Amino acid sequence: MAGTVWWKRGTVYQVYPRSFQDTDADGIGDLPGITARLEHLAWLGVDAVWISPIYPSPMADYGYDVSDYCGIDPLFGTLADFDALVAEAHRRRLKVILDFVPNHSAITHPWFAESRASRTNPRRDWYIWRDPAPDGGPPNNWLSNFGGPAWTLDPATGQYYYHAFLKEQPDLNWRNPAVRTAMHDALRFWLERGVDGFRVDVIWHLMKDAGFQDNPANPDFSPEQPEINRFAQVYSADRPEVLDVIAEMRAVLRPYGERVLIGEIYLPMERLMAYYGPDLSGADMPFNFQLIQTPWSAEAVSDLVENYEAALPDGGWPNWVLGNHDQPRIAARVGANQARIAAMLLLTLRGTPTLYYGDEIGLAHVPIPADRVRDPWERNEPGHGRDPERTPMQWDGEVHAGFSTVEPWLPLSDDAAARNVDALRDDPTSILTLYRRLLALRREHAALSVGAYRGIATEAADVFAYERFGDDGAFRILLNFGGASHTLALPADETWTVLLSTRGHRGGDGAVASIALGPDEGLILQKC
Ligand code: NOJ
Repeated sequence: MAGTVWWKRGTVYQVYPRSFQDTDADGIGDLPGITARLEHLAWLGVDAVWISPIYPSPMADYGYDVSDYCGIDPLFGTLADFDALVAEAHRRRLKVILDFVPNHSAITHPWFAESRASRTNPRRDWYIWRDPAPDGGPPNNWLSNFGGPAWTLDPATGQYYYHAFLKEQPDLNWRNPAVRTAMHDALRFWLERGVDGFRVDVIWHLMKDAGFQDNPANPDFSPEQPEINRFAQVYSADRPEVLDVIAEMRAVLRPYGERVLIGEIYLPMERLMAYYGPDLSGADMPFNFQLIQTPWSAEAVSDLVENYEAALPDGGWPNWVLGNHDQPRIAARVGANQARIAAMLLLTLRGTPTLYYGDEIGLAHVPIPADRVRDPWERNEPGHGRDPERTPMQWDGEVHAGFSTVEPWLPLSDDAAARNVDALRDDPTSILTLYRRLLALRREHAALSVGAYRGIATEAADVFAYERFGDDGAFRILLNFGGASHTLALPADETWTVLLSTRGHRGGDGAVASIALGPDEGLILQKC
């Protein structure tokens, strides 16, 4: 373990700052709120907090539209609040990872104001401007990820600008070296303030085809999918040149020591692997969202783990994610029982796990009444909105679950009185206790974090079994993805003892030749 960088050993916890803790009674979370709740993260046993964007922003996409890359939005606090957060986190041995949003700025960014001022403005080329098609329409068929065309006409100068997301989020032109320099300066600004790394938003989008060719039709498109899927994003994203851009970012981090660069990438497995970069010059961790995209069955998940492990480049470090602020919550997707299996899986696979706030209390889908919808995507394409996974953290049984003293910006879950940290923390059978025990085991046994992985065949089709092993021992993880019980044989010449069950402790049964696995139960066994 000694010599292993922190982000390989550690666990990342994502905070959506609007929803973690409100301290100034506006119904929206803030930086002092995160600082006040660092104790929860330390108690839980995670190692790093990744905070979704906190920069000044008109909030068209809730902070993923940045109007100043080197500031803090007053809604969240001040730079002094930020410094206090970093100091307090570091005092508690927690790392701080910022969300960096370089693909696009806010439409209100002064750079864009200059860029749109005239065709000859020195910053014109900081964004992506094209002439209309001959019929006056958009320059090509590229679509916005939030529906509709990705091009908006700016009548003052008669050209279209490109936006992969909202029209309020114009894409920056990363082919322009001045843009790169400005962004590198922004990275350094935060590195100097002590941040331990960045999660880079839509990193695979940074470079687009220089020829702006039309994207080809997607033969698998069906109307219930978001409109963006109508075309395969062949020319609008995932261009080979992006690897140079990422290598340059990594080079900015390098002099600062053990800082981490995580890239947000939604691509098929073989393309994802390219983002480790030639000679690992790319992202330290290209986010692996495969668990989110794979059907929830023992067979599919076990195949996925085998394939992912096999596809990793030499020296490429794995990572796993169950959910984030853009995806339905894991408990909503697989149900309360299987959410425990998911927790055990996430925290015993080889590679850095990222937890999403609220998953540790089993938050599931929170229905959002029509008059409380906030996500612009839901307004553009109903049914695809992300508000249900962005609702406030539930801390206690007080009014508004201790999140705020006023009505929160999004509703709480109906069961907030029972589903909160306070109510679950001393319950030995709660999902919160399970998360904490899993994190403690992972921390205690290096084999569970940085040890090797080996899949194990079992007699039961709905059980996924594997071994993690290293200098400090061997562990067997048995995960029942189904509702039937199973008795599984253990190697005759070995003795295993039960360390943890997803149903609460059931230690003590050692020296067994076979083991009973209940419905929806997961077990960690240790070799004696
Ligand atoms: C990915 C972010 O995770 C998502 O929340 C955001 O809407 C888009 N990028 C645009 O920045």
